[in-house]
Amino acid sequence: MQRLRLGLVGAGRRAQAHVQSILALDDRFELAAVCDVNAEAAAAIAQRTGAQAFADLDEFFRGGQLDAVDIVTPPDAHHVIAKAAADYGVSMLVETPIAPTRQMAALLMEAAERAKVKLEVAENVWRWPAERLARQVLESGAIGRVLRVYCLYVTGGYHAMNLIRTYLGFPQPTVVAAHVRRYPVDPYTFNGADHVDETWTSATIDFAGGATAIHECSSSWSSPVRQAVPRFFAAHGTKGTLVSRGGVVEVGIVTDGKLQRYSSETEWSASGNGRTAKQLRLGPPLNLSYDNPFEPLVAQHPELWRGGEDEVARADELNSLYRAVVDNVAPEYGAENAYRDEELVVAMNESGFAGGAAVSFPLPSVTRWEEETHAAFRRVYGVDPLADLDGARKVLFSVYGARVPAPSQPNAKSSG
Ligand SMILES: NC(=O)c1ccc[n+]([C@@H]2O[C@H](COP(=O)([O-])OP(=O)(O)OC[C@H]3O[C@@H](n4cnc5c(N)ncnc54)[C@H](O)[C@@H]3O)[C@@H](O)[C@H]2O)c1
Repeated sequence: MQRLRLGLVGAGRRAQAHVQSILALDDRFELAAVCDVNAEAAAAIAQRTGAQAFADLDEFFRGGQLDAVDIVTPPDAHHVIAKAAADYGVSMLVETPIAPTRQMAALLMEAAERAKVKLEVAENVWRWPAERLARQVLESGAIGRVLRVYCLYVTGGYHAMNLIRTYLGFPQPTVVAAHVRRYPVDPYTFNGADHVDETWTSATIDFAGGATAIHECSSSWSSPVRQAVPRFFAAHGTKGTLVSRGGVVEVGIVTDGKLQRYSSETEWSASGNGRTAKQLRLGPPLNLSYDNPFEPLVAQHPELWRGGEDEVARADELNSLYRAVVDNVAPEYGAENAYRDEELVVAMNESGFAGGAAVSFPLPSVTRWEEETHAAFRRVYGVDPLADLDGARKVLFSVYGARVPAPSQPNAKSSG
C-alpha cells in the first residue's frame, strides 16, 4: 500500500486525537512533520512520533516534502493555512468548521480548486456508525417520506447541520428562523479560557420539498455546562419514526394499523483494549447493517486506538483524504458540503441578530453577522481575514478568537 507523507498543522487539543488516528493508520500515512506557531506544542508531538517539528509554516511546507496535510488549527485559521497548503500544491483535510464565514470558506475552496489539490473536511457526525445505519433506514424508505428531522445536540452548529442535511438527503434550505441568545452562567474555566455565559440556539429550517428541521443546542461547542444534555436525533416520516440516541437506532413503523418497534444491535469487537463496533444491524424485516471497516485497528494498535464512534469517524475522514489523493477521486464529504453546513450556521446567526425574524435563501452575498465576524477578526488579530492571508500565517489564532457575541437574553441574570 502506498504511504503518504502527512503533515499536521496545529498541535493543540484536537490534534492529540488526530495523531492517534494517523499513527494507527500507519499503512496509509507517515506522520512526517508537525507545525505550530507554539514551538513547544509542535516539539511535544514530534518527540512522541518522530515527526519533524516546525514553528514556521513556510519552512514546514518547504522542508516537509508533504503529500498531504491535516489542518487542526482554530477555525479562524483554517482558510489561512489551507490557502498556504494549496499554494504549495499539497492536498488537505481541514477540521470543522471549514471556516467561520462563507467568504473565508470561498477563498479556501478557490485556492484548492486553482491548485488542483484535494480538499476534505473532517466532519465526523455523519460518519459515526449509528448515523451510517440510520441513513440506511431513511434511504430504504422504511419510515416513508421524511417530514421532520429533530436534532438536539449539545455542541450544535455545523455538526448539527451536517446531521440534518444527511438525514434529509441534502435538499436546498429555503427559510431559517432562529433564536440565538446569550445567557449568563456561573463562571467556569474550559479549554484554558474563563467563561461567564453560554449561547443558546433554537431554530426551524425549511427545505425545498417540504421537510422541516427542528434544532436546539445550548452553548458553543466547547462548554462543559451542558455536557449532561443527551444527544437526540430523530426523523418523522409518513409511515413511521426513527430515533438515534446513545449509539442505538430505534425504528417504529405502522404495519397493518399496528406499531412495530425495531432496535439496532451492536456486535462489539472481541479483540484489543478498546470497544469498537464490529457491526450494527437491524434484523427482519429491515435487514440493514453497517460493517465498521476500521474494526481491525483495535487489535492492530491497542495502545493507540480504542475504537469509539468518533475515532471511527476520524479514521474514516483520514481515509477519505487518502483515497482522494491516491485514487484521484473526490473526497467523500468535501468542501461544498461543509460550506452548505456553515451557510446554515450563518443563516441561524443572521436570524438571531434580527430577533428571530425568518431569513430566506439565497442569503445576501455578505450578511451582517459575517461583516461583524470579519470586523472582529481584524480587531482580534490585526489582519484582514480576506485581503491579507499571507500576513496572517504567523498569527497565533485562538479557538475563542473572532467570535461575535449573540444578543443577550433580556432579564437573564447570573446567580454569581
Ligand atoms: N470535529 C470535532 O468534533 C472537533 C472537536 C474539537 C475541535 N475541533 C476543531 O479542531 C480545531 C482545533 O481545535 P483545538 O481545540 O485543538 O484548538 P487548540 O487551541 O487546542 O489548538 C490549536 C493549535 O493551533 C495552533 N495555532 C494557532 N495559530 C496557528 C498558526 N498560525 N499556525 C500554526 N498553528 C497555529 C495553536 O498554537 C494551538 O496549538 C478547531 O478547528 C476546532 O473547531 C473539531
